[in-house]
Amino acid sequence: MTEDRSSLAAVVLAAGQGTRMRSSMAKVLHPVLGRPMLAHVLDAARSAGADRLAVVVGHQAEAVRISLATLFDGVDYQTPLQAEQLGTGHAVQCAATATEGYKDLLILCGDTPNLNALTLSALREAHEASGADLTVVTFEVTDPTGYGRMIRAQDGSLTGIIEHKDATEAQRAIGEVNAGVYLGDRDLIIGALEKVGTANAQGEVYLTDIVKVLASEGRRVLPHVLDDPQRVAGVNTREQLSIIEQRMLKDRLQALMGEGVSLEDPSGVRIETTASVGADTTLSTGVQLLGRTTIGQGCRIDAGCVLTDCTVGDGVHLKPYVVAEDTVIGAGATAGPFTHLRPGTVLGEASKIGNFVETKKAVLGKGAKASHLSYLGDCEVGEGSNIGAGTITCNYDGSYKHKTVIGKEVFIGSDTQLVAPVNVGDRATVGAGTTVTVDVPAGSLVVTRGERRVIQGYDARHRQPREAKRAAEKAAAKKEQ
Ligand code: UD1
Ligand code: CA
Repeated sequence: MTEDRSSLAAVVLAAGQGTRMRSSMAKVLHPVLGRPMLAHVLDAARSAGADRLAVVVGHQAEAVRISLATLFDGVDYQTPLQAEQLGTGHAVQCAATATEGYKDLLILCGDTPNLNALTLSALREAHEASGADLTVVTFEVTDPTGYGRMIRAQDGSLTGIIEHKDATEAQRAIGEVNAGVYLGDRDLIIGALEKVGTANAQGEVYLTDIVKVLASEGRRVLPHVLDDPQRVAGVNTREQLSIIEQRMLKDRLQALMGEGVSLEDPSGVRIETTASVGADTTLSTGVQLLGRTTIGQGCRIDAGCVLTDCTVGDGVHLKPYVVAEDTVIGAGATAGPFTHLRPGTVLGEASKIGNFVETKKAVLGKGAKASHLSYLGDCEVGEGSNIGAGTITCNYDGSYKHKTVIGKEVFIGSDTQLVAPVNVGDRATVGAGTTVTVDVPAGSLVVTRGERRVIQGYDARHRQPREAKRAAEKAAAKKEQ
């Protein structure tokens, strides 16, 4: 409850099943650019300045609540339950308690992910300027099938909305339709809903019927016509989901280019809602920046890099096909081509990870290098150390994981196995082919290799006679056939 009579409560309708998605997951949880569509709608409601947020849940209520709890941790919102989906009007009635005491009510649908703050603030302005009791967002379409049609009076105000299923042929020809977004006096809306019946084709309490009720009571109900209907496009099918996602992605990429990001092939790039890119960074074709990935300024991200929840500093070069998750890459570092950076990897400033290197919980210091064919797991590599080709940290003993700690300016020769837990001191050198099982003191050299043996004339005494015998056998077998 609030005493502020200029306050705004937003109600988001998210109780429906979304049968046409043919999904075991509630429709409003389907992601658009990595974020559930319901979350996009809530983002818009929040940035439009709603003082109270109420999300009406019903179908898969618990799953929707859990998703909101993780995405809107620390945000104040309510989730009134609509146990049975008896219609959009009934859904708003279920939010009556949650919105009590607020002056205005903004009603949105949870399946319109492209809605943004700009559209909603324009609606607020229009509503305040006209002084209407209720403003309904509308738009013109060439094919109005499925939408509620707007019935206007001579003076342009609204007297009703007729659902497609209830409309006569003449009404179906009306091209102005209901977007499903409403702003009006909260008490008037809740009061009007008490007078709405269920005598319609779907036997439901239609929210749309408040227009008829309020207009007949002499209240002013006005349309707010959108010039960009895409903003309120609803998702009912998987096809619409993909169309809206592509449209939102295109807008996002355009905005990024405006902010100074170069895209060599925008049609092949995917950047999710929560990912960001700094100015003067160039993204090549097929780059995917997912989750909470942030890319600094002046970076170059080559073809096919897929980054999930990564933090990339300034001036980083990722060569083609770096796949990274939950990884921090320091300024000026380079990685790739074909590098797999798994969760918990931290690459220090100006460090270098080359082709066919896999890392996991590996923390590399400034300027450290692992240029070829290595597995670095559960390890620390100090500043300026060099890891030779084919080095493997043997971090798993079959039951437990152990750590390898490599100091500063260490030189690890090619084909080294570091059997963890093991420490290699600063400026130590490990000879190629060594299996390190015991700590290596700082500044020392360690080498483990079999004794060198040379057997002269081996080819003439062993290989050549065997090859001759085998060739004779083959010739005999062929003759027999
Ligand atoms: C609704 C409008 C229609 C408008 C269209 C715009 C009504 C009666 N019709 O139709 O005029 O043109 O949106 O897209 O309002 N929901 C609930 N509880 C319910 C029923 C629905 O929470 O009992 C939620 C749904 O989850 C959805 C929203 O309300 O987010 C809209 O419901 P939907 O069934 O999609 O309405 P439409 O038939 O599209
Ligand atoms: Ca709909």
